Amino acid sequence: MNSQEIMQILEERRTYRRFDEIRQIPDEVVADMKRAAQLASSAMNRQPLRYIYIRTPETVNAVFDITSWGGALPNGEGRPKAGERPTMFVAILSDKALQSKYTSFDEGLAASNLTLSAYAHGVGSCILGSVNADKLRDLLAIDDSLDISCVIGFGYPTHKSTVTEIGEDGDVKYRLDENRDYIVPKKKIEDTATEI
Ligand SMILES: Cc1cc2nc3c(=O)[nH]c(=O)nc-3n(C[C@H](O)[C@H](O)[C@H](O)COP(=O)(O)O)c2cc1C
Repeated sequence: MNSQEIMQILEERRTYRRFDEIRQIPDEVVADMKRAAQLASSAMNRQPLRYIYIRTPETVNAVFDITSWGGALPNGEGRPKAGERPTMFVAILSDKALQSKYTSFDEGLAASNLTLSAYAHGVGSCILGSVNADKLRDLLAIDDSLDISCVIGFGYPTHKSTVTEIGEDGDVKYRLDENRDYIVPKKKIEDTATEI
């Protein structure tokens, strides 16, 4: 893969919130995702993270019910409707005994590797910090020795998402255009990066 292809994946690996619910994610894709998570850098190489791949439709639905989607959009427009839901969730957990002050770095890098490796196969994702952790713990029988970081929803996207430069008003809120495709404002490079 050349640098242009990598940059294209970074452009297109956006947050997706509507999926083709009848198209399952193949085992080969999930295998790549597991390997990608294993490859993620980890502070002091402690590797405190654990992953639960939720693929059984009833459990996927149960996890979906305890997540919140697209808080920036009015009238619940960001929440997938029936037929648009993710077909898989991955829960990211961390072993309390192995945590360090850098565990959130590990979680972010793992989420990045998971979503990028999925997107390399055309599988879109939405990282969901808004999950009811108590209910998730009960539902998946997660041991008390593990903290819950987030869940990530995965599926084949049925909409586009495009990054635009932030407007003069500085509003960072993403929005839907007339086709219900996502428009995601990003801060200007010159406002966030300096060189010396
Ligand atoms: C740590 C984290 C938590 C997030 N939690 C949620 C969430 O609970 N619900 C949701 O719809 N999107 C969630 N998102 C997605 C963000 O809204 C999204 O990344 C942001 O709007 C920018 O869009 P982009 O990912 O396409 O760049 C989360 C993203 C991150 C990184």
